[in-house]
Amino acid sequence: PQTLYFTRHGESEYNVVGRIGGDASLSARGQLYAQALAEHVNALAGRAPLCVWTSELQRTKQTAAGIRAPKRPLRALNELDAGICEGLTYEEMQERFPQEFAWRDQDKLRYRYPWGESYIDIMTRLRPVLSALEDEHGVVVVGHQAVLRCMLGYFLDAKLDELPYMTVPLHTIVKLTSCGYKYRVEMIKMPV
Ligand code: G3H
Repeated sequence: PQTLYFTRHGESEYNVVGRIGGDASLSARGQLYAQALAEHVNALAGRAPLCVWTSELQRTKQTAAGIRAPKRPLRALNELDAGICEGLTYEEMQERFPQEFAWRDQDKLRYRYPWGESYIDIMTRLRPVLSALEDEHGVVVVGHQAVLRCMLGYFLDAKLDELPYMTVPLHTIVKLTSCGYKYRVEMIKMPV
């Protein structure tokens, strides 16, 4: 069967203070996850050749750094572009752009940040990556929350409207194994 692995980047400095977007580095705890992830994945690598796909952002590259496998940074895997709200906390967004905040709340799937993206936009840019992944085996995707919601939602046949609310916890490896026309999910939580 085909096996694919997905994980968010380790906790970043922005995660710690609740800011969205940006290109922050990993926190100390995030670095611990990067080590734990590398140990776990390097131990698997004896069985089948692996390849790691990251975004172009520092936090996914840092998370993948210790994995002994070819790395492929893909722009299509970058996090949702929050446009004028990049770098803000949700509280600051609500204060500075109350109308935008309310609109996003009303339709999180279709809401597009000014000069940024919506979840639907992410689905569109992910399409070629998702088709390519369907033919791959042993790829480890190190990504971001919103993008992984879309990717996992695609493989697990989630409803479009559910995507923006899917839970993709930090510091957890999501293992998908093909099982006929479906995928079986395993969540492997790393103790960091
Ligand atoms: O900024 C990107 C976040 O990971 C997406 O979270 O869509 O729930 O605001 P959100």
